Amino acid sequence: MARTFFVGGNWKCNGTSDDVKKIVGVLNGAEVPPEDVVEVVVSPPYVFLPLVKSLLRSDFGVAAQNCWVRKGGAFTGEISVEMLVNLNIPWVILGHSERRLLLNESNEFVGDKVAYALSQGLKVIACVGETLEQRESGSTMAVVAAQTKAIAERVLNWDNIVLAYEPVWAIGTGKVATPAQAQEVHTELRKWLHENTGPEVAASVRIIYGGSVNGKNCKELAAQPDVDGFLVGGASLKPEFIDIIASST
Ligand code: G3P
Repeated sequence: MARTFFVGGNWKCNGTSDDVKKIVGVLNGAEVPPEDVVEVVVSPPYVFLPLVKSLLRSDFGVAAQNCWVRKGGAFTGEISVEMLVNLNIPWVILGHSERRLLLNESNEFVGDKVAYALSQGLKVIACVGETLEQRESGSTMAVVAAQTKAIAERVLNWDNIVLAYEPVWAIGTGKVATPAQAQEVHTELRKWLHENTGPEVAASVRIIYGGSVNGKNCKELAAQPDVDGFLVGGASLKPEFIDIIASST
């Protein structure tokens, strides 16, 4: 089954309102494949979501970089799913390794977040990935399978989930996974989905790669049969993001 290529831009904790206007100006002026060929979603910090939503071209989506795990209330500093729905923000990134490691987000907590966000109508980019130590000890698949299992145990419908494999050792380091490394883990993840969620989900879920993707390495990665797109950090703040959007065509 053909899976629409998916390119996400994770701006992380960066930018000013002037930066946002400049980046969105570049995106709005870019010639890119049609959205039924490549789905593009950009993810600014919370504080810039309304601004990006108001300025960004209508064929690109917008994502929050996180959300709270249940209905809003006395949770100081958190942003609720309901607030994102109220702002017409359709996507949210959940389980990013920077939150798993820096804020101790467990597999179960991420799984609960994914389930609640989906239940309220959001679409989710769910992140999994191993550390260098875990890879070097040969436990890559055990780690990403456990992370994925914590989601699968809480979610029945995968229609609104994009699974992002982001090896921690490749994030922000310039040490991008080789196409073979990415394809290997994506294949294993798709096999895990086939065995644990069924053949239809395995065939339809987009599994995207993140970790030092740039305008030079994107084409070779995009050519891998089980790489259905990218979640891009640093390069999504630069004009080369346009090359990454077009990398599958
Ligand atoms: O979520 C994407 C991000 O973790 C990848 O970052 O800068 O290595 O592309 P970067």
